[in-house]
Amino acid sequence: VPPKYIRNFSIIAHIDHGKSTLADQLLIQTKTVMDREMQAQFLDGMDLERERGITIKLNQARMKYTANDGQVYALNLIDTPGHVDFNYEVSRSLAACEGCLLVVDAAQGVEAQTLANVYLAMENDLEIIPVLNKIDLPGAEPERVRREIEEVLGLDCSRAILASAKAGIGIEDILEAIVERIPPPADNIADHETRALIFDSAYDPYRGVIVYFRVTDGELNVGDRVMLMNTRKEHIIDELGVLAPKPVNVDRLFAGEVGWLSASIKAVADARVGDTITLKKNPASQALPGYTEAKPMVFCGMFPSDGDQFEDLREALGKLQLNDSALSFEPEVSSAMGFGFRCGFLGLLHMEIVQERLEREYDVDLIVTSPTVVYRCNLAKGETMVVQNPTLLPDAGVRESIEEPYCRMEIITPKDFVGPLMELSQARRGDFVDMQFLTEARTTLIYNLPLAEVVTDFFDELKSRSRGYASMEYHQIGYRKSDLVRLDIKINNETVDPLAQIVHRDAAFRVGKALTGRLREVIPRQQFKIPIQAAIGVKVVASENLSAMRKDVTAKCYGGDISRKKKLLKKQAAGKKRMKMFGKVEVPKEAFTSILKIN
Ligand code: GTP
Repeated sequence: VPPKYIRNFSIIAHIDHGKSTLADQLLIQTKTVMDREMQAQFLDGMDLERERGITIKLNQARMKYTANDGQVYALNLIDTPGHVDFNYEVSRSLAACEGCLLVVDAAQGVEAQTLANVYLAMENDLEIIPVLNKIDLPGAEPERVRREIEEVLGLDCSRAILASAKAGIGIEDILEAIVERIPPPADNIADHETRALIFDSAYDPYRGVIVYFRVTDGELNVGDRVMLMNTRKEHIIDELGVLAPKPVNVDRLFAGEVGWLSASIKAVADARVGDTITLKKNPASQALPGYTEAKPMVFCGMFPSDGDQFEDLREALGKLQLNDSALSFEPEVSSAMGFGFRCGFLGLLHMEIVQERLEREYDVDLIVTSPTVVYRCNLAKGETMVVQNPTLLPDAGVRESIEEPYCRMEIITPKDFVGPLMELSQARRGDFVDMQFLTEARTTLIYNLPLAEVVTDFFDELKSRSRGYASMEYHQIGYRKSDLVRLDIKINNETVDPLAQIVHRDAAFRVGKALTGRLREVIPRQQFKIPIQAAIGVKVVASENLSAMRKDVTAKCYGGDISRKKKLLKKQAAGKKRMKMFGKVEVPKEAFTSILKIN
């Protein structure tokens, strides 16, 4: 397809504003998939492919559209991930487009994610087409939302499209607007050194990594020896294709086009998002801009609750990493937990996804220690140490100061909740930056906050204090010195490493009290009294006592039903497997997970 008949676009929206529904409608309206087929056949097709071991991500779709000018256009829809943890991937997907649809729920208005996504689109110089969605809802106020977008984002909304993705209203207008308003890709085919931008990749067990890319200059052919300009790896293209939206093989792809390739690449880390593909025989002199290595921001320890599963865990993490270049892990030994791994993630959601996949898909029973951000510890000797594990924080005597990562937080909320949300931000050591009325009813609040205070339960708290109405977005803004200390937890006078946390000195008492209280509830009683303490160095800041028990599980089995007794004892034994011994005390798995969110 010549570039002038191609349009590359994506859809940006706040969560639940209707991005997926609109994407489906566009596929249906252009007959890329049939309505009925959508559910049935199409998904079946995916199953079939899964059986044949082909991993195809539905992250792009090529549609054929005959516009009002009578011309047939190829519209490439490029999907963007929907969560802040994956902001870098979003920005690379947008970099592969010339324009985007900005979907805003006409009953809700601009939200934090709308803002963040629009900024990313602006940074990438995209043509933005505002779409006011859900106009079928009785509560829809398209005029108010139109003004809001103009005032808040400074976007011209005179040609905003009124639509209902659900009822199929405005879809034709959207398709026409894509053709008319989004510029075609530059015609960089002839006399250009080949360059293509990787915006996604997925591991396939049979063909190696499937790389998704946008050709910006020149062309790619099956059999070409390609080089990745940042990782310097070389591969030969086995297969090239497009998604329509089922995979269709092609022999070559030209500048302006979007597609996928396989080239026996072993791990996604060898073909990272943001890297530039070029030809070995005639390499481009400059890579496409914007390449950054994924940097884990949150770390935790992962230990198999059954020590025998250590090797299984290593293998499972290795497999997940093939498909996730942002996941890092290295072996860690803890006196209390035995052998495990210190793992790094983009954020808390990323961590939860990995944890769940390990337990579900790989059947490894895990104990996960408190997540922590990456601190910098300046030592008295003038050196700086990076601390990803609270237990490794140098002692007070050796260290000069500690720095912690900060982020800029943007909250959008109905004005009624401004008070409670300011309280929340202040309680989390936030520095107030700015407050602005978006409209009469809605306000944005901007705070600089320590990342450590955000990655725990900030989002949950924000939602509960605003009855679900507020939204938030944040990005990291560098390091700052803080008065931080390591809070150790001692159970029966033994330090339990995995429960150690780095906290602000002012919060040590509150966190210590909450932690010890929580542990008292979840640790089963023993034959003897157990002290539970939180301490900074040798100074105890909070303590609780777990009194001795009398309970005998078989006591209930009055009489001699021996089989019942056995069953109960067996159940108790199974319960034991999920506990960890600390000295003479068994600490259940729940103790580790339930305290994750105490702050
Ligand atoms: P995520 O995938 O979670 O990011 O959400 P999304 O932005 O893709 O939204 P999605 O398309 O899943 O729609 C969210 C909800 O809004 C669903 O329940 C849809 O049925 C509903 N919805 C989407 N478009 C419309 C619309 O035009 N009118 C009405 N009434 N509901 C809609």
